[in-house]
Parts: sequence; structure tokens; C-alpha cells
Amino acid sequence: MPAGPAASQLRRFHPHDIPVIADIVRESLHENYDNSLYISLGQQWPDGFLVATDALGRPVAFMLGVMQVDGEGRILMFAVDREHRGRGIGTQLMQAFLERCRARSLRRVTLEVRVSNATAIRFYTDFRFSVIDLLRTYYSDGEDGYQMARDVA
Ligand SMILES: CC(C)(COP(=O)(O)OP(=O)(O)OC[C@H]1O[C@@H](n2cnc3c(N)ncnc32)[C@H](O)[C@@H]1OP(=O)(O)O)[C@@H](O)C(=O)NCCC(=O)NCCS
Repeated sequence: MPAGPAASQLRRFHPHDIPVIADIVRESLHENYDNSLYISLGQQWPDGFLVATDALGRPVAFMLGVMQVDGEGRILMFAVDREHRGRGIGTQLMQAFLERCRARSLRRVTLEVRVSNATAIRFYTDFRFSVIDLLRTYYSDGEDGYQMARDVA
């Protein structure tokens, strides 16, 4: 049962968020990245790296997007801590990210998702993303990915 509406604040990523974000990435995305990756990607477009926090200011979700040279945004990582899912926090992050893409006059947003990740695919479809490509053995464990995209407007 969802535990009520989202009570999260959104703000930019700060390097002191890394330990908590790395835990969310390990648990939700099954990946382990070096701290320097978050820092270097966050420097590229600080407004594209959004963190949602609980009432105590602790990160509970994040979206890491980058700007590509072709005038497109690309979502590289997106996850909500398991205990905080289904409360609209993912929706809040996606809406804020799309606003930031609009502010930079980006045309389109793309992302990749595992073909088995039905929850995320439904989430993205509800946000008007469509599958534009099948990426064979895209993930390191051999799973295929879908590339999805939507216009920013
Ligand atoms: C995908 C994800 C980010 C959604 O975040 P969230 O905060 O739970 O999403 P919201 O509460 O805003 O839900 C928005 C919509 O997503 C869909 N959705 C969310 N959870 C769902 C679930 N368990 N089953 C089916 N649909 C679901 C629904 O369409 C929902 O709309 P509704 O509440 O009106 O039914 C979250 O499930 C997550 O972190 N998953 C693990 C990491 C991941 O897969 N990231 C994407 C990798 S590409």
C-alpha cells in the first residue's frame, strides 16, 4: 500500500550525497560506480542531477541526466529507494527533470532500460516515452535493453 503522498524536497546533487546515492544504486540498479563518476557527471550539468530528500534532508531518490552535444537530454541513472516507491517521488523527479530540459531548450530525452524492468517501462510509457530501439546484450550481464525517447515539449 502506498504510504501517502510524496513528502520529498528536490535539490541539486552535492558530493556529500554520494554514500547514500551509491547505496540506492547498489540496491536498486545493482551497479557499483566509483565516487568520481558521480562528481564528474554532476559537474557536466548540475541542474540535471536531482536529488529527492526526506524530511531530515537524507536522499531517498535521484535522477542523473546529462546534456548531449546533439541538443538532447539523456537519463543515465534514476532510482527511488525501495521503501519510498509508489508515493509519487519518481513522478516528481521526472517532472522536474523535464522542466530543466525545457529551460535549456533541449528537444528530446532518451534513456535505456532493461527489457525485464516492467515497472520502469510502464512508468516511462505513462510519461509518453516510446521504445525506439532494441539494444542487444546492452547490460554487462548480457540482458537486452530498450532505448526509449520522448520529445521534451
Ligand atoms: C521506476 C521508479 C523510479 C518509479 O519511482 P516511484 O517513485 O515508485 O514512482 P511513482 O510513485 O511516481 O509512480 C508513478 C507511476 O509509475 C508506475 N509504477 C510505480 N510503481 C509501480 C509498480 N510497483 N508497479 C507498476 N507500476 C508502477 C505507475 O504507473 C505509477 O503511477 P500510479 O501511481 O498513478 O499508478 C522506481 O520503481 C524505481 O526506483 N525502480 C528501481 C530502479 C529502476 O528501475 N530505475 C529505472 C532504471 S532505467
